[in-house]
Amino acid sequence: MDKPLSVNRFRYHFSIARLVFWTCIFLGLILLFFFHSPHSSSSSSTSDSAPRRILADPDWESRVIKSGKPRSRAGGLRVLVTGAAGFVGTHVCATLRRRGDGVVGLDNFNAYYDPALKQARRSLLERADVFVVKGDINNPTLLSKLFELVQFTHVMHLAAQAGVRYAMKNPSSYVHSNIAGFVNLLEVCKSANPQPAIVWASSSSVYGLNTKVPFSEKDRTDKPSSLYAATKKAGEEIAHTYNHIYGLSITGLRFFTVYGPWGRPDMAYFFFTKDILKGKPITIFEGPDHFSVARDFTYIDDIVKGCLGALDTAKKSTGSGGVKKGPAQLRVFNLGNTSPVPVSKLVNILEKLLKVKAKKIVLPMPANGDVLFTHANISLAQRELGYKPTTDLQTGLKKFVRWYLNFYTRTGKTSNV
Ligand SMILES: NC(=O)c1ccc[n+]([C@@H]2O[C@H](COP(=O)([O-])OP(=O)(O)OC[C@H]3O[C@@H](n4cnc5c(N)ncnc54)[C@H](O)[C@@H]3O)[C@@H](O)[C@H]2O)c1
Ligand SMILES: *[C@@H]1O[C@H](CO)[C@@H](O)[C@H](O)[C@H]1NC(C)=O
Repeated sequence: MDKPLSVNRFRYHFSIARLVFWTCIFLGLILLFFFHSPHSSSSSSTSDSAPRRILADPDWESRVIKSGKPRSRAGGLRVLVTGAAGFVGTHVCATLRRRGDGVVGLDNFNAYYDPALKQARRSLLERADVFVVKGDINNPTLLSKLFELVQFTHVMHLAAQAGVRYAMKNPSSYVHSNIAGFVNLLEVCKSANPQPAIVWASSSSVYGLNTKVPFSEKDRTDKPSSLYAATKKAGEEIAHTYNHIYGLSITGLRFFTVYGPWGRPDMAYFFFTKDILKGKPITIFEGPDHFSVARDFTYIDDIVKGCLGALDTAKKSTGSGGVKKGPAQLRVFNLGNTSPVPVSKLVNILEKLLKVKAKKIVLPMPANGDVLFTHANISLAQRELGYKPTTDLQTGLKKFVRWYLNFYTRTGKTSNV
């Protein structure tokens, strides 16, 4: 009588043990899956699915390799350009490629301003034989992959969260791209063999509240008036660190209000044009005592020449295997036009070019991070880079307006700022 019962009890205990055992294995696997999934380690929402894309598109690697190969010139550069679908990035990529260098672009196509404009720039670059990879500079796997495919001699780092006023709305985007992203990029560069030389975009905004004009590289830059300026200044200090510890050759370029065809819709010359054409009033800010706000507007082609001058004069990085072998080059240059123009004059030129009178509202400048004026001393860039701007505002705006009218009537779009 007893026996069947004990057998049953034995079977019962045995199946419980088995259930517990398999449940543990199952739970363990689930935990393992979660801790190793990229989502738990990735902190950024904009970080791209590029590694998956690499697996999905067998063409991807060969396109990167082909784009990175110098064409005509023996000894041409191999340049990784970040922010390639941006305003300056597009022009730099196209110019480098035209003279025969190898160029691979990288851009995350974020929606800070109309991504359709970024896509249009990408199409332009495709026709110019430059491949622009979609991805974030915060993605180390993607960056390492690119360095595996192409032995970059140079990195032209233009990816950033730009804009002064937007920093009050979305401060973390500045930390993400201008600080975390820059550090991530430098980490990959310092580990690369050979290490590339780096040229990157700082900004005239680092001069902040300085009143001594013109702004010279030796002047103090410890009074930023916006978070944007503070992240660019931080970039300059971070550059110093990576130069010092790892022997990376780094050149910072302080751009002064760049404008021109394919420009940025968040900048005044661009949205003034749009609003004047629409008959919408434009707001012109002035300083205390009717002080006219002025900018050292610099035409895109001049900036591109400065960028190429910096790439061509950059010395090699000295480290290898992530270890410094000797002192390396560390430079910073103003790239401006040396002739500040009051914003009211900018509006007058636009009115004449567009043949439309602007409806102007003049207001005192709010405390939103903008500075009253900028004025570059460019004698250092002149001496070291052969930099010599040749386009005045009138001439440059004429080219911008021609592009604007052609682009927005041809595509039938209106710019969505
Ligand atoms: N245009 C100017 O007047 C001016 C003045 C001073 C400094 N700068 C600097 O020059 C550089 C280029 O400026 P621009 O006018 O061409 O700006 P832009 O916004 O047109 O170009 C920057 C590009 O970088 C991309 N990007 C941003 N964050 C990224 C990220 N985390 N990963 C990958 N791509 C990212 C954007 O999608 C954009 O296409 C920027 O560093 C900017 O701060 C520009
Ligand atoms: C411009 O900068 C150079 C150094 O690069 C300096 O020698 C010169 O005095 C500066 N000029 C002015 C007008 O500040």
